[in-house]
Amino acid sequence: MARVSMKVDGVVYEDHVEPRTLLVHHLREKLGRVGTPVGCDTSNCGACILHVDGESVKSCSVLAVQADGADITTIQGLDGGEGTDGAWHPVQTAFQEHHGLQCGYCTPGMVMAAVDLLRTNPDPTEDEVRHGLEGNLCRCTGYVNIVKAVLSAASELRGQGAHRGSFQDAAPAQAQPAGARA
Ligand code: FES
Ligand code: FES
Repeated sequence: MARVSMKVDGVVYEDHVEPRTLLVHHLREKLGRVGTPVGCDTSNCGACILHVDGESVKSCSVLAVQADGADITTIQGLDGGEGTDGAWHPVQTAFQEHHGLQCGYCTPGMVMAAVDLLRTNPDPTEDEVRHGLEGNLCRCTGYVNIVKAVLSAASELRGQGAHRGSFQDAAPAQAQPAGARA
């Protein structure tokens, strides 16, 4: 077993894990972050995307021990930013308003990838959105409404004059005992 410490959605957790444990399994099975789904066993679908130190990562392609010391944001820790009192992130709101989901299985990964895309490219073209999300597969929507949602969120975020990225931007970390639950 290996000792790992990571901040997840603003809370620091310390645990012992098998060295072969994938990050997504650690988050789901040990830390209760079941909002991050597993959609494939080939690292192709993108459903498991979350943010590690602010950047999109497929959490099924990373070992938990590789995330030791990392600052992780899952879909469960994403919010609208400072002063929004836990409201949805504009990307989440846009997915709802533009019907960017059907079964919802791909949605956590889509949202997290889109937030990172808009952080690095605040004013993307439709092609850039499609290219930016090409690592995320959706079997339901045909992508049209997902692209609409991301472009709408980009406009909303530009209107706000700031990018509300991740929980870690808004809330200070609070140390918890080993194996702490949110
Ligand atoms: S579950 Fe990670 S890419 Fe499919
Ligand atoms: S909404 Fe069902 S897989 Fe995307």
